[in-house]
Amino acid sequence: MVTVLITGASRGLGLEFVKQYQKSGAKIFACCRNPENANNLMKLANESDGQTTLFQMDVSNPKEVLSTAKELNGCNIDYLINNAGILGTDFDQPMRGAFGSVDYESWEETMLVNVLGPFRVCEAFVNHVSGSKNRLMVFVSTHMASITALSEGGFYPYRSSKAALNLLVKGLSIDLKDRGIRTLSFHPGWVKTDMGTDSAPVEVSDSISGMREVISSYSSPRTGEFINYDGTPYPW
Ligand SMILES: NC(=O)c1ccc[n+]([C@@H]2O[C@H](COP(=O)([O-])OP(=O)(O)OC[C@H]3O[C@@H](n4cnc5c(N)ncnc54)[C@H](OP(=O)(O)O)[C@@H]3O)[C@@H](O)[C@H]2O)c1
Repeated sequence: MVTVLITGASRGLGLEFVKQYQKSGAKIFACCRNPENANNLMKLANESDGQTTLFQMDVSNPKEVLSTAKELNGCNIDYLINNAGILGTDFDQPMRGAFGSVDYESWEETMLVNVLGPFRVCEAFVNHVSGSKNRLMVFVSTHMASITALSEGGFYPYRSSKAALNLLVKGLSIDLKDRGIRTLSFHPGWVKTDMGTDSAPVEVSDSISGMREVISSYSSPRTGEFINYDGTPYPW
């Protein structure tokens, strides 16, 4: 039985990760900012007979990250899934991320949540992961962060935060190699969630089953790669 920790588990991709891993029999630590408002997640946990446990953890809140890590002292985590993220603007308000009208406050928050957050989570949970059998840290990035594939501007806060996240994924693959920990960055597809909107072509269930497939077959010595949800490599 694998043990999985998922951040941003209240809705969207994070909630579907919980749903599918719960169905597969995994033990799940589901983390979200406001468990009392996360009705769908709460329902899943209540139906799970103790298989899924909820934790209040805002990834940009150092105290909450450290206290969750402390609470889970002695628990091994096979897959640490850094999923929580924000766009920093809305698809219907793209000018907030555009040259000439960027919202700097929102950019700062985006960096806190999308970059410092996952790094903080990795530092806090490194011993939980290194004690496990599979020792994999997963990061949900985006194709919008690819420098090689970039063909349009805009969305600077989001793109720059996820490009920085990709850099972390590569760096951590080097720093954590001696502990047997591997890292992996995903483009989850353009997915129908609150963030992806209804216009997105990919269903949440397909994105998650694709990523789960990649995760379970991602074996040593592979590490520090950027991969599409269907398993094909993505250019950095
Ligand atoms: N959907 C897409 O097409 C797409 C494409 C590429 C990449 N991604 C990435 O996939 C990940 C999940 O996105 P999604 O589509 O599921 O988005 P979503 O529907 O907007 O859900 C975002 C999740 O992140 C959580 N979150 C936000 N800030 C947080 C914080 N400070 N601490 C902890 N949790 C926080 C939210 O919690 P609350 O409920 O408390 O707000 C929510 O659970 C993100 O990293 C996103 O950048 C998505």
